[in-house]
Amino acid sequence: MTAVELIQKKRDGRALSDTEIKAVISGYTGGDIPDYQMSAFLMAVYFQGMSDAETASLTELMRDSGIVLDLSDLPAPKVDKHSTGGVGDKVSLVLAPLVAACGVTNPMISGRSLAHTGGTLDKLEAIPGFNTQLDLATFKAYLKARKVALIGQTKDICPADKKIYALRDATGTVQSIPLICGSILSKKLAEDLDALVLDVKCGSGAIFPDPAYSEKLAHKLVQTAAKFGLKTVALLTQMEQPLGVSIGTWLETREAIDMLAGKPVARDFYNVTIALSAYMVWLGGLAPSFADAKEHVEHALQSGAALQRFREIVSHQGGDISILDAPGKYPAASHQCDVLAESSGFVHGLHARTFGQVAMLLGAGRRKKEDGIDYTAGILLHRKVGDRVQVGEKIATLFASQQPIASHLVERIQTAINVATEPCQPLPVFLGIVDENGKQVWSHDRYFNG
Ligand code: URA
Repeated sequence: MTAVELIQKKRDGRALSDTEIKAVISGYTGGDIPDYQMSAFLMAVYFQGMSDAETASLTELMRDSGIVLDLSDLPAPKVDKHSTGGVGDKVSLVLAPLVAACGVTNPMISGRSLAHTGGTLDKLEAIPGFNTQLDLATFKAYLKARKVALIGQTKDICPADKKIYALRDATGTVQSIPLICGSILSKKLAEDLDALVLDVKCGSGAIFPDPAYSEKLAHKLVQTAAKFGLKTVALLTQMEQPLGVSIGTWLETREAIDMLAGKPVARDFYNVTIALSAYMVWLGGLAPSFADAKEHVEHALQSGAALQRFREIVSHQGGDISILDAPGKYPAASHQCDVLAESSGFVHGLHARTFGQVAMLLGAGRRKKEDGIDYTAGILLHRKVGDRVQVGEKIATLFASQQPIASHLVERIQTAINVATEPCQPLPVFLGIVDENGKQVWSHDRYFNG
């Protein structure tokens, strides 16, 4: 079949065979299918979807477009976590050293900030000198030595995803469940894992603002991973407001360092990090129950073992560890601006997507892939949903160095804040859990206070 015939078949809602999907993927990566035809194909998938068999085939072909790591000589269990992306999500910075300190081998390959969502790599690179561009041999050596290394996508792993994702980003086809599934799982399957824990974000700052789609995505991810024999669970977590109290690279790295150093942090950031870490430990077979795994993880945090592991990661990947002991020495942003409450009452909403977009416009993220990052830029939250606030009190502070803070950005943040007179409960942190048995409502009250 020609490329046009394959596009027409998908456009008309018919399922493609393995051979036909292979023709599209290898045709595009090999340069025989041009961007305009691939764009049409992606749009056809966006509207018509893919069957489970097609999604699995796409995932496998994307995985096999590059190197599939062989980590069989590394100690088991090898477990990773992947988040579908959100605002203020600095979880990986704490989780990676934390699970390694508990005995999990965590080969973490992360992404960069794009649009309103932040990326782990940019947060790590906010630490002066930190090198995320290790070659695969060094990555493996570091994993052998201390069970954890944090690197960026290399050109050798899933090159098909790199090329296709860039096109999806430019053609409005990111929000497609089978395409997201293929993109995420191809990369995770290339890591040679024993288990995978997914953080599927739900709410305004998530990839799908409608939580019903996040839930569908979680099911598809878990079912597709199961076809490859990869033990996977997906936690559905809150992304209606930003996670924690900071948005922006260095601000988030600093909040992560605070958690590693045992300082009090926001309840949602703490609970999500501990729950995902405990799932990794439990799924990896290092604890007999979730409750035991949680205890193990909290002990590794409180004892300083996770912080020590983070110091080793930073030091071995070329970063300046003095900043971990004295984060206050980090260069301050040249401009800052407080956003004040316009009325007294309770915070009912902090629209995560708008906060993420404004943080990006302040310089904390990228509008386009090629854009640079202002590590000092971002937003600090002084209130979370459910908190009381008096008129004139600070709700947020905006930071930037490369440009003064424009008044329209302050106005935009005001539109993202909803204060009303009636009291309001804090948002639930966990919205459910999806495993091979389907979705369950996960009662975090059993494990977490508040
Ligand atoms: N994250 C990914 O890695 N791929 C997607 O398609 C969406 C989110």
